[in-house]
Amino acid sequence: MTYIKLDYTNAEPFFGHYQIEFLKESVAAIHEQMHSGRSKHQDALGWLTYPQDIDPQEIERIQKTAQHIQQTSDILLVIGIGGSYLGARAAIEMLTHPFKYSIPGPTQHKPQILYVGQNLSSTYMTQVMQALKGKDFAINIISKSGTTTEPAIAFRIFRKLLEDKYGKEEARKRIIATTDAEQGALRELAQQEGYVTFTIPRDIGGRYSVLTPVGLLPMATAGIDIQQVLTGAKQAYNELLTADITENSAYQYAIIRNILFQKGMAIELFVAYEPSLQFFAEWWKQLFGESEGKERRGIFPASATFTTDLHSFGQYIQEGQRDLFETILTVKEPAHDLVIGSDPDNIDGLNYLAGKTVNKVNEQATIGALNAHAEGGVPAVTFEVPRLDAFTFGYLVYYFEKACAMSAYLFGVNPFDQPGVELYKTNMFKLLEKPGYTETAKSI
Ligand code: PA5
Repeated sequence: MTYIKLDYTNAEPFFGHYQIEFLKESVAAIHEQMHSGRSKHQDALGWLTYPQDIDPQEIERIQKTAQHIQQTSDILLVIGIGGSYLGARAAIEMLTHPFKYSIPGPTQHKPQILYVGQNLSSTYMTQVMQALKGKDFAINIISKSGTTTEPAIAFRIFRKLLEDKYGKEEARKRIIATTDAEQGALRELAQQEGYVTFTIPRDIGGRYSVLTPVGLLPMATAGIDIQQVLTGAKQAYNELLTADITENSAYQYAIIRNILFQKGMAIELFVAYEPSLQFFAEWWKQLFGESEGKERRGIFPASATFTTDLHSFGQYIQEGQRDLFETILTVKEPAHDLVIGSDPDNIDGLNYLAGKTVNKVNEQATIGALNAHAEGGVPAVTFEVPRLDAFTFGYLVYYFEKACAMSAYLFGVNPFDQPGVELYKTNMFKLLEKPGYTETAKSI
């Protein structure tokens, strides 16, 4: 019995059970490779055991640093992109109140977490600067390579702002750098300036790094119990130690995705019925898209929040081109529920719902949409978690990381590189005449 419940009865009509059996041995071989310590990608498999391996003293240091930021800053500016950004934001959006800054009560929601370095919008950066005016703030710059352009530009701009506000000496104490142990410009700068630093293990790539200081420091600063996050991840680690697909539902999921792809389902729509899961979906999309989409293979990862999006592209899902399947994440116990009242006039005609809870309606909408989409030819895989808390977040992260690695291997690609991300950078560097990129590029 696993913490997460996987149900693929709504996908089964689209394939034969023998197809799962057919992949059983490949899965066992891949599992053995991943866990043998002799994988050809051994230098990228650190995430596999990290929830077990993390040093308790490192957790304590993260918590102490977070407390210090809470005591000294109104805002923590997290600078990072891709795997150095999405995981922390996914946790913070999932687990903290969306309107916390409008709720009366002076300090319990301090500090606010703001993000930069995840785009190159001068308007957005200026707006963040405006939000920082008159506020005490600190910076957590996160970059494994230490050379990614977007966070590097943001760091240059916001470090200057910090130095102008506090002077160089105090500014240094307000910067925390999370980066590689030795390599990269950020490590060099951090050493030179004497910033507090946290290390991203060499054998954990960006999109697999949320359970390292990359995600843990912003989470702890936002008040999330990171011990619980790691406990959840450890539970997933233990549950998924088996190669037996009848017991390892992450591997079942990986297999089903692969079979559905072979049946022409090239798009996977990650669906949640809680808006707080929107950034979890963003993290999930990066994980699967960057791990799997190479060598002209892989499923295109998309996402939707229902019921909201049922009223936007629900029509397409029901009746558009038949090349997609849904992966639905449901939550058994909502953090809050509301009872719908009775109205003597009943002009809105809603008295048939009086006494029912809003969550009950959400549940029925989930079943209604699932069945309608199945009728329309859309297979669905459903996951259920008991609740959304720190434990669940850690569990889900580890669960999908493992499922993703298995799925990418089943596609026959390396889950841990991202060669295709380089081309846009090379083109941009040529256009910007970065030293070393001298060839002429086509400008539009
Ligand atoms: O998953 C990945 O490797 C990428 O998404 C990186 O996390 C992203 O490009 C940021 O890289 P870095 O942390 O080196 O700045």
